[in-house]
Amino acid sequence: MNRELPARECQHLRERRRARLFFNRTAFLYPLIEWHLFPRYRQALERLKLPAGLTVLDLATGSGILAAAFSGRGHPVKGLDFSRPLLKRAKKRFPEVDFKVFDLVDLAMIPPDSYGIVACGYLLHGISPRFRATVLQEMARIAAEYIVVFDYCCDGGWFVRLIEWIEGPHYAGFIAGSREQEFAVAGMEVVDSFHTSAFGSTWLCRPR
Ligand SMILES: C[S@@+](CC[C@H](N)C(=O)[O-])C[C@H]1O[C@@H](n2cnc3c(N)ncnc32)[C@H](O)[C@@H]1O
Repeated sequence: MNRELPARECQHLRERRRARLFFNRTAFLYPLIEWHLFPRYRQALERLKLPAGLTVLDLATGSGILAAAFSGRGHPVKGLDFSRPLLKRAKKRFPEVDFKVFDLVDLAMIPPDSYGIVACGYLLHGISPRFRATVLQEMARIAAEYIVVFDYCCDGGWFVRLIEWIEGPHYAGFIAGSREQEFAVAGMEVVDSFHTSAFGSTWLCRPR
């Protein structure tokens, strides 16, 4: 641990390292998650009907199912994640998508308005409110046209609570908070939102 860093930064670093370890170790469970989420991502994108010419940046792409759902609709897609085992699975399954190892703390390196759409699936509930605010601001800065967010909109019951408790401490605060307010603070306007399951939602936003 770097002794020069303030305590808050150290905690942030520790948390990111712990999260990466969690996702690396649970990569073998992804077929189950994919089975649940992949059809829901496809259905949501079918409903949104975003212009296929728009390029997509999928943040925290994991095993690549949201990236693949966009690609299946004709979008050129790049997927970023810091978990190598998940990216390995993504590259094997979806060779048509450009996947890269990337830590989202470095989002400031990506030029403004450089992708038509910036998306993320089930990232936001797992990161701290402070980092979430930064990621959302960066999404609004990088997206030329749209931001698409998939995540929990309400409590998913004991099983989801258990998994999220193992993942980290942010789930309860996330579902209690207001997405609309967070998006507005980050410089986004919600133009559409709808449930994709009993406890999941999609938000379509425009950068302001
Ligand atoms: C719950 S998974 C969702 C994966 C994928 N979006 C999906 O819908 O299946 C959360 C993902 O966020 C990634 N992640 C979390 N923090 C990250 C960070 N700081 N940089 C890059 N990826 C991160 C994890 O590696 C994991 O793949």
